[in-house]
Amino acid sequence: MLETERLRLVCFDAKYAKELFELWSDYEAIKYTYTPLMTTINESINFIEHQINRTDKSFQDRFVVLLNHKAIGMGGCICMDKENSVFGLYYQFSRAYWGYGYASEAAKALMNYVLDKHLNAVIKADAVSVNPASIAVLKKIALKQTHIEEKGFRRNGFELDLIHFSNASFS
Ligand SMILES: CC(C)(COP(=O)(O)OP(=O)(O)OC[C@H]1O[C@@H](n2cnc3c(N)ncnc32)[C@H](O)[C@@H]1OP(=O)(O)O)[C@@H](O)C(=O)NCCC(=O)NCCS
Repeated sequence: MLETERLRLVCFDAKYAKELFELWSDYEAIKYTYTPLMTTINESINFIEHQINRTDKSFQDRFVVLLNHKAIGMGGCICMDKENSVFGLYYQFSRAYWGYGYASEAAKALMNYVLDKHLNAVIKADAVSVNPASIAVLKKIALKQTHIEEKGFRRNGFELDLIHFSNASFS
């Protein structure tokens, strides 16, 4: 479990299915991610099960974000390349909780968590060019833009440029 001033980041559990369904059934909240749009709580339960199965057993790499015991989002920092300690940071929050600094707070905690365990970790993250809030979050946690991948994000037939960020200027 990770703790910040206002948030707790905990393991995935089916008990959060209903609250996370608020996030995963809202197209506006997930349209710039690869999370499937859900229409039933069962899908939410299955997705949580999938997250549990994919969680790294040796190093907790994905979390549900709680605010006063309510699940308001999720985030993770997942190992993409073990040999070179490269991790991919991501997050998403229910719309009712945007604009309060929660994403920045959680993202910072996730990044520090990885850097505590892997001193020289390369943290990578990306955001579509039309998602200024996410770009602002990545800048707030001091990641630097490395490059733009033209049409790097594809979902539902639309293609968007993807802005890549990292804590290592060479990546
Ligand atoms: C992106 C997202 C995580 C931001 O969450 P959040 O909790 O509102 O983020 P924060 O409050 O920590 O910070 C948002 C920052 O973006 C800024 N911001 C928000 N909308 C903005 C806009 N339209 N233009 C410029 N900046 C904007 C805010 O001002 C804030 O910066 P500040 O604290 O310096 O004022 C949230 O909108 C979300 O979950 N979106 C859906 C999923 C998603 O896009 N995930 C990221 C995939 S790359």
